[in-house]
Amino acid sequence: MASTLLAYHAASKHSFSGYADSPGFLDWETQPDPFRRFEGSPETPLDLPSDGAGPCYDLLFDRPPEPAPLSLRSLSRFLFESLALSAWKKAPHSAPWSLRVNPSSGNLHPTEGYLLLPPLAGSRSAGVFHYSPLRHSLEARRFLSADQWEEMVSGLPPGTFFAGLSSIYWREAWKYGERAFRYCHHDLGHALGALALSARIHGWRSLVLPAVGEPELARILAVEHQQGPEAERADCLLAIFPDRDNRLDAATRSFQLPAALLATLRDQRPLGDPNRLSSDHLPWPLLEQAIDSAAYSGGWPGEETISCPAVPPVVPLSSEGASLLLRRRRSAMAMDGKTSISRDSFLRILSQLLPRGDSFPFALLPWRPRVSLLFFVHRVQGLSAGLYLLLRSPAHEASLRRELRPEFAWRTPPGLPEALPFYHLVEGDFRELAAQISCYQTIASGGCFALAMLADLSDVQERPWFYPRLFWECGLVGQLLYLGAEAAGLQGTGIGCYFDDGLHDLVGVRGLPWQSLYHFTVGRGVVDRRLQTRPAYADLRRTAGSAESAEKQAGSFGTPQEKACAQGRLV
Ligand SMILES: Cc1cc2nc3c(=O)[nH]c(=O)nc-3n(C[C@H](O)[C@H](O)[C@H](O)COP(=O)(O)O)c2cc1C
Repeated sequence: MASTLLAYHAASKHSFSGYADSPGFLDWETQPDPFRRFEGSPETPLDLPSDGAGPCYDLLFDRPPEPAPLSLRSLSRFLFESLALSAWKKAPHSAPWSLRVNPSSGNLHPTEGYLLLPPLAGSRSAGVFHYSPLRHSLEARRFLSADQWEEMVSGLPPGTFFAGLSSIYWREAWKYGERAFRYCHHDLGHALGALALSARIHGWRSLVLPAVGEPELARILAVEHQQGPEAERADCLLAIFPDRDNRLDAATRSFQLPAALLATLRDQRPLGDPNRLSSDHLPWPLLEQAIDSAAYSGGWPGEETISCPAVPPVVPLSSEGASLLLRRRRSAMAMDGKTSISRDSFLRILSQLLPRGDSFPFALLPWRPRVSLLFFVHRVQGLSAGLYLLLRSPAHEASLRRELRPEFAWRTPPGLPEALPFYHLVEGDFRELAAQISCYQTIASGGCFALAMLADLSDVQERPWFYPRLFWECGLVGQLLYLGAEAAGLQGTGIGCYFDDGLHDLVGVRGLPWQSLYHFTVGRGVVDRRLQTRPAYADLRRTAGSAESAEKQAGSFGTPQEKACAQGRLV
């Protein structure tokens, strides 16, 4: 199984001499519907929240806001700021297309989101609900009795609910063929980041439950009987609960779905039927093998997370409101090639990428960090251009020092905090090379910096199901980069198209364990004036009642800090 996955990894590399196997053109006839619907399922429309600024983004990393009570209203905002539509775009002579709060490779959105909820005022009962980003509504897949719900959450922190994520590989395979496995799991990591950030705004903590395996998850999410290329594959279940305790007990980490409940659900027909997404499909055998080889049967209790050394606080904080940033986030399609990023903004982004023990945001992933970051610094004030490395775990250092080119200097850049595990490797202008390695995309050269995420694949030999989790970690890092860029008044773009071994050759990586699993760029995006932008949900906003609900939401950020942030200043 591990060998199949590692063979998949090698075969899905792009290189200077050729790209991984893909259709090579866009077959518009079979373009997959980006919206899963469950026809016939009872639907609960969610009131639309306002576009409020929310608490200061940078402060989220220091302390959680007071936990919001769980209600359909708070859940509406939670989804509005994580998986909802954020805008519609239109080019001359083409049909409009939607964009979402969570980014996706090629905007194809393979990730589907679910909530598992207790009985709430305004909903019929506890149950499992699919989130429809198109209609900002919940589609019931299963109703659960109050007793069944109590059984589900027994042993978990009071006030726990769950979010589940699944992937429809076909959506990415339609365009990208064999490389789709990677993109689906990058996207999943971005969605995890979007959920964790939105939960944090609500004062809720989120944790990917490590022991929950795919078969049980598929049953509870009611996707286990889906067949064929459009089938959803269950990926992970998150527990989300009020962020009051700092440490999680062993019971939470080893949580499993109750066996008796799963047995009862075995023969229960789910509510609603999945819509068909495409009229036809191409087979991608290597992708299928990768999906099967990475399947996770559950039972792993996770690992203790570890801390990077504390970095002294970087001032001043950005005054941007988190809710505003989450909904404003956009991928730059071109970079201006001249803007530089200030030293403070750059440091703030670096410090937000470092895991800090059992705390937000990386405690979301119940394992020790596996990903460190190689930076192409182009225009960062106070830093000379060149290659740099951010060690996201002290445990990576020995292996990376051994693996990377012996001539790399590993110097702490002058003027940066000593405690920051950020090293200057080599000086030079790497703009052209960064673009070349990124499939000749100039977004990698025209920004302030680009980076490659170096992941330790050692575990994949023993635990093939760890392979997708490495992409989740990369996606989460990417989501923080997108938002860190926005907070600095810049934009980011994920780069899934890059020449794997081109990067490895540059830094001296000769094979496993270190492999570059995702690239990213940050800079000043150039707006394409030919595209029109329209707000999301304009049709739903017109419906009676949402104006009133928006007013109430706007008033829900009440502390002096939140109000100051909403007005764009620091307290
Ligand atoms: C995993 C991933 C890989 C991506 N790769 C590229 C890329 O190689 N080149 C590019 O221009 N954009 C890339 N993007 C950006 C997407 O095209 C973008 O997220 C999508 O069009 C949706 O737009 P939005 O991010 O503004 O919502 C990538 C995004 C993700 C999440």
